[in-house]
Amino acid sequence: MSSSRFSVVLILLVALCGFTLSRDRFPVDPALTYCVQQATKTAASLPATEPNLPRNILNGKKNWNYISYKDWTSGFWPGTLWYIYEYTKDPAWKAKADSFTRELTPLAFQKAVDHDLGFQMYCSFGNGLRLTGNADYKKKLLATADTLATLFNPKVGTILSWPRSVPNMEWPQHNTIMDNMINLELLFWASKNGGGKHLYDIAVSHATTTMKNHFRPDYTSYHVVVYDRETGKKIKGVTHQGYADNSMWARGQSWAIYGYTMTYRETKDPKFLDFAQNVSDVYLKRLPKDLIPYWDFSAPDIPSAPRDASAAAVTASALLELSTFVKDKAKAATYRAKAEQMLESLSSANYQSRQVNDAFLLHSTGHKPNNSEVDASINYADYYYIEALIRLKKLQTGKPILANL
Ligand code: GLY
Repeated sequence: MSSSRFSVVLILLVALCGFTLSRDRFPVDPALTYCVQQATKTAASLPATEPNLPRNILNGKKNWNYISYKDWTSGFWPGTLWYIYEYTKDPAWKAKADSFTRELTPLAFQKAVDHDLGFQMYCSFGNGLRLTGNADYKKKLLATADTLATLFNPKVGTILSWPRSVPNMEWPQHNTIMDNMINLELLFWASKNGGGKHLYDIAVSHATTTMKNHFRPDYTSYHVVVYDRETGKKIKGVTHQGYADNSMWARGQSWAIYGYTMTYRETKDPKFLDFAQNVSDVYLKRLPKDLIPYWDFSAPDIPSAPRDASAAAVTASALLELSTFVKDKAKAATYRAKAEQMLESLSSANYQSRQVNDAFLLHSTGHKPNNSEVDASINYADYYYIEALIRLKKLQTGKPILANL
């Protein structure tokens, strides 16, 4: 090869590498700075008295609706504030995060009325403990893990998600919902921090029993499984928030992706890693072009059906972690690239709220069959979006995903 032709080939190769690298390096700081700006506006407009935790901004509206510590989403605003503190290192954000976190304290000690304790307390107190080492937060988390464990039914092998009558769930039989996988993180943490081995065993039993009963042969998930509370036998798989019993409800599948990735992290049992990949692959295969799912993969009005940005944010965060566990380099790179593309989509003018309202994101869907929070801004979309951005920043700077920034 002549030297001039060699130079041309070399230049092309360098340009190609540069292009590939830049495609892999989603610019995370502008997105995080945007989150800080939006949260600053939200924080400035909060009510002076409870309920003062932002939950949603409905489609076409400008203002947040607020909830108290009792709501299942109460941990997401304090958790978001902890991530903002982690990014900015500004003590003013730390003080805000601490104050909203403490509002949830009663949940640690009162009777469990729902499985959502992990969402509520681990996002708030859990992030707070990680960033501050506050011994008081640790005490509250350990107490909450014991409270959550009271919902475990050893005959079934899972936690009772809704300890009350819910339509179609054959109360007082035992119900378990896919979302419940996320709450296991609190139990895993507690078992390593003085809470006892039984909490680990409950978490593993829940994940294993759910793996057996909650999935169809193609790895798509039922939202809810109802069990006979005495024999532990599966009665039926149904939906509550999805389109149909047999459809793949987008956020339910996202909880599965996140939950099994986390369960592998905590157990190192390869069957959970395989499973996390299987439940991810079926979701990835069926996504629309911009990688933000419709609220249900079988919604009858696709492509006009509402999207669920929250499911995309949960999945992006989970895939970033999954990419660090998968040994096959090409597959790991695919999970990482998909997560970055999801974040790129979410960070575009199509999905960021910007001037529309003070949330981070538009276009999430909470409970479509109830016509509630359809195509709205919702606090958990914002929480998992900023979590994913912070995780990506850690990966881009060579830090483990759970280290502090
Ligand atoms: N945990 C309820 C939901 O995902 O909407």
